[in-house]
Amino acid sequence: MKDVKQELAQVVASATGVIAAEDALRLFETPPDPTKGDIAFPCFRLSKFLRKPPAVIAQELAEQLELPDVIEKAEPVNGYLNFFIRPSYYAQALASLGDHTAIRESGKGKTACIDFSSPNIAKKFHLGHIGTTMIGNALRNIFEYCGWKVIAINYLGDWGTSFGKLICAYKMWSSREAIEKNGVIELERIYARFNKEAQTDESLNQAARDAFCALEQGNEEYREIWRYFREISLKEYMKTYDLLGIKFDSYNGESFYTDKMPAVVEELREKGLLKLDDGASVVDLSAYNMPPALILKRDGSTLYPTRDIAAAKWRKQEYGFDKCIYVTSAGQSLHFAQWFKVVELMGYDWANELVHVPYGTMSFGGEKLASRTGNIIYLDDLLAQAIEKAESIIDEKNADLKDKHETAVAIGVGAVVFNALFNARIKDVDFSWDSALSFEGNTGPYLQYTYARASSVLRKCPEAGDCAGYSPNADEIALIKQLSLFDTKVLQALEQYEPSVITRYLLDTCGAYNQFYHSSPVVRAEGAEQSFRIALTAAFRETAGKCLELLGMRRTEEI
Ligand code: ARG
Repeated sequence: MKDVKQELAQVVASATGVIAAEDALRLFETPPDPTKGDIAFPCFRLSKFLRKPPAVIAQELAEQLELPDVIEKAEPVNGYLNFFIRPSYYAQALASLGDHTAIRESGKGKTACIDFSSPNIAKKFHLGHIGTTMIGNALRNIFEYCGWKVIAINYLGDWGTSFGKLICAYKMWSSREAIEKNGVIELERIYARFNKEAQTDESLNQAARDAFCALEQGNEEYREIWRYFREISLKEYMKTYDLLGIKFDSYNGESFYTDKMPAVVEELREKGLLKLDDGASVVDLSAYNMPPALILKRDGSTLYPTRDIAAAKWRKQEYGFDKCIYVTSAGQSLHFAQWFKVVELMGYDWANELVHVPYGTMSFGGEKLASRTGNIIYLDDLLAQAIEKAESIIDEKNADLKDKHETAVAIGVGAVVFNALFNARIKDVDFSWDSALSFEGNTGPYLQYTYARASSVLRKCPEAGDCAGYSPNADEIALIKQLSLFDTKVLQALEQYEPSVITRYLLDTCGAYNQFYHSSPVVRAEGAEQSFRIALTAAFRETAGKCLELLGMRRTEEI
């Protein structure tokens, strides 16, 4: 409907004489009640220029305007002028729904690094990682759809003092066989035991510090063990990523930057930004109302912010990004604000290309997630249960379905992904098995089912003939209007780093489709009416399928 609005904006602008067409275009609204019109022009702003009450302006405009052909009539209501689009216009609008050239080219030539998921190795993937993984992946898809070149980065937490502890614990209490057999859970077990015993035995902590020091200095035996931990962890994560259909372009984690940090520390020193604080080196940020950014510990070892600064510099050089996006829980907001500021103070104008995308915390049973207290749910368990449930429902309802397992995976994963992307990302959520595994109402499976329904109609009626002259009914018009919002919604999701915009849009779109499906038969229709409905079903299927893919869910042709 962009073209209609543009045309109307011209007409309104020249009739009033006090407002430019592009300003008129921005003022247009959509009447909340579709029976009151399709496009509304509010006259309140004009009141100042024309020195008349808005209701009078609306009335006068209604009488004077030379309406374009596609507009059937214009009615003044409470200071608004409401325009009604001629139904025949929608037949033509339907034909142009598939054209997304403008949005697909909007990011052409631009590069975004998206740093997401990034688990700390030697720990199992748990609920706390769902947000960053699903939001990050959806953002990747959205940016790519809009023409950006995207580098998806899994910045593995594969360095730090915890590896000193793990190496000691491994040498005392574990073996390759045990890890081979039990995977990352074995690493979690020995790590927890180490922390527990170190509470009463201080020598363990010293041994861990020494081990990490040796690791940093390149001790071959320790390097080998550390590499093994990393490999085992990655192997497990890959299974989860494969199930979710997520791919990364880089797994350069924290360890990759160890040799790039001395230069950063040196640069900070040269630029006069480092201050000694109780033996540690920090960047003072009190002028910006933030606690100091910690760069070097007393013993000279580097810290999380130091590594992030080194990584950002390297990425800027390597990829020449226009945006570098970090998806983490809101608990890390201060960390990002601090080191973004440090990059700015270093004099890099690309500091404003760094974007932190925070999301709310996930709790379970109202309690914080913590492996120490056992209040934890592992992502692979959650996915396995969701898939199992999908499988049993399919067995019950459609036992002859071909690709049964594939479909169950698509739906089970879809339920989990949808649940993670349904709320505005900043909202804190308390995890519930019921809603994560629910397939009814506003859920992923409902969306996938609606998609499959449209696919099934099109299998029965694959060819749309000529639909010239057909005048669509209200449900058809509502669906076309809904479909025409796709580009706007995708752009909004991108600009706000908010995949839930698409989740909500897809829900509404499926609602509009189901309404149409029930009121407007396709298979039993004939002639122009049938052709129109086939074309509309195909347009819905394309748009809904695209939304599913953007969110990281699979298209299910048959359920
Ligand atoms: N590994 C960190 C964690 O699990 C997240 C890393 C986020 N990315 C970054 N560049 N700091 O909390």
